[in-house]
Amino acid sequence: MFKDKFDLVIAANRLPVDRVREGNRSVWRRSPGGLVTAMESVMRGRDGAWIGWSGVPGKAPAAFEQDDMCLHPIALSSDEVTDYYEGFSNGSLWPLYHDVIVPPTFRRRWQAAYEKVNRRFAEAAADLAADKATVWVHDYQLQQVPQFLRELRPDVRIGWFNHIPFPPVELFMQLPARDSLLHGLLGADFLGFQRRTDAQNFLRACRQLLGEDVAVRGDLVQNGDGQVCRAAAVPISIDTRGMAELASTPKVQARAAEIREQLGNPEKLLLGVDRLDYTKGIRHRLKALEEMYREGSLNSACTKFIQVATPSRERLEAYQHIRSEVEQTVGRINGEHSSFGAPPVTYLHRSFPREEMAAMFVAADVMLVTPLRDGMNLVAKEYVAAHDDSGALVLSEFTGAATELKQSYLCNPHDIARTKRTITRALEAPDEERRRRMRAMRRQVLRHDVQHWAERFLSDLAVAPRQP
Ligand code: ADP
Ligand code: F6P
Repeated sequence: MFKDKFDLVIAANRLPVDRVREGNRSVWRRSPGGLVTAMESVMRGRDGAWIGWSGVPGKAPAAFEQDDMCLHPIALSSDEVTDYYEGFSNGSLWPLYHDVIVPPTFRRRWQAAYEKVNRRFAEAAADLAADKATVWVHDYQLQQVPQFLRELRPDVRIGWFNHIPFPPVELFMQLPARDSLLHGLLGADFLGFQRRTDAQNFLRACRQLLGEDVAVRGDLVQNGDGQVCRAAAVPISIDTRGMAELASTPKVQARAAEIREQLGNPEKLLLGVDRLDYTKGIRHRLKALEEMYREGSLNSACTKFIQVATPSRERLEAYQHIRSEVEQTVGRINGEHSSFGAPPVTYLHRSFPREEMAAMFVAADVMLVTPLRDGMNLVAKEYVAAHDDSGALVLSEFTGAATELKQSYLCNPHDIARTKRTITRALEAPDEERRRRMRAMRRQVLRHDVQHWAERFLSDLAVAPRQP
């Protein structure tokens, strides 16, 4: 029998596992994305509950236990998947919060569904939270949960962490639901953001858009009820030691060597690992590489590239579009530059076990992380953790990770000419330079790992002032 009240409740759009069909049966599989990577290791060993969607529309499966956690599926109807998840979350908020790389769409029906589903999450959290419990709400899909939960349970501590960027007010103000979302967030005691700029963007939005309704002083916002909410940067991280240990196991090391052998033992191996999302800059990266293969600054026989593109949000048009562009470009590069059985680009559009991801990280001489905008990008940190002092990281200035991994080869992915030069620099740098850079970045991710992040978030939440 499970407990029915918890001192720590996590609310995230998805559970750490997803219900998927395998042949004619349904099985649970690890959910995609950085949120799950991070929170899975944080929650291991903590006696908490996690509420989230199971990944399929219709009735919610019964609660169940996994890795010391009690998982409580939340039901979403087919219409809610369309309107709350695909519509408001990923058709309005996602592009708006990522620098409008594609134009956001605003529909009143989507906004209504978002509010309804946020209420459902708040009710579930209110039911599961013990007296004075801590409820940790995650990400842009649940921005109204803090307010709805506060109305139901004034006794609980409410924290919210945004895994993605928070946009500048000039963009945020496009959102018709902007006031409801700001008031939604102000129901929390503490709001955590990836970068200082994100926290400042939020504070500025409150000051500029809510006017007399709130008072903003430093990093505190007081709303009309006198309740105070603090906003600050708490950058997320990875289970650094876990990844480092996994990467150094004989099995992973052998698999890394095998991957290189299967690719014909190239002199240099480049790697990209992303959800297939238009924010990740995969198209820009491929354009740079295509030009380099064409001009001969990369030799297709000696330098190979693996692109892992994890399937994501496949029913949305913008995602179908980026997939077809990426696949056409990969086809064109391979068509022009392959020899028999030896294409320069290996394109993998599926999920892999963690060991296989670690083996790819170990195998790669240079990791290409070139998003146009990314809250953090955990892949960059995983690559650093998987290497002792070998390897090189090319990293977009538009990721949260760039604030911390300053010894990477930083690039502006929009500037194709300079990105090409940066890739060449990373490939040709003297071993000593690469070692120095990797060692410094490794120290950073070892010191600031995911447990450190969670402890910082929870202690900031615990001491956040409720009254001015
Ligand atoms: P996002 O949250 O936007 O997807 P992150 O880089 O922050 O991006 O996190 C992605 C996480 O998903 C990382 O832990 C990465 O190792 C993992 N991942 C990405 N692609 C795959 C894949 N094809 N199979 C398994 N894990 C993957
Ligand atoms: O980090 C951003 C994020 O939206 C997370 O919420 C989630 O872990 C990941 O990307 C995957 O997205 P989705 O849940 O839409 O498949």
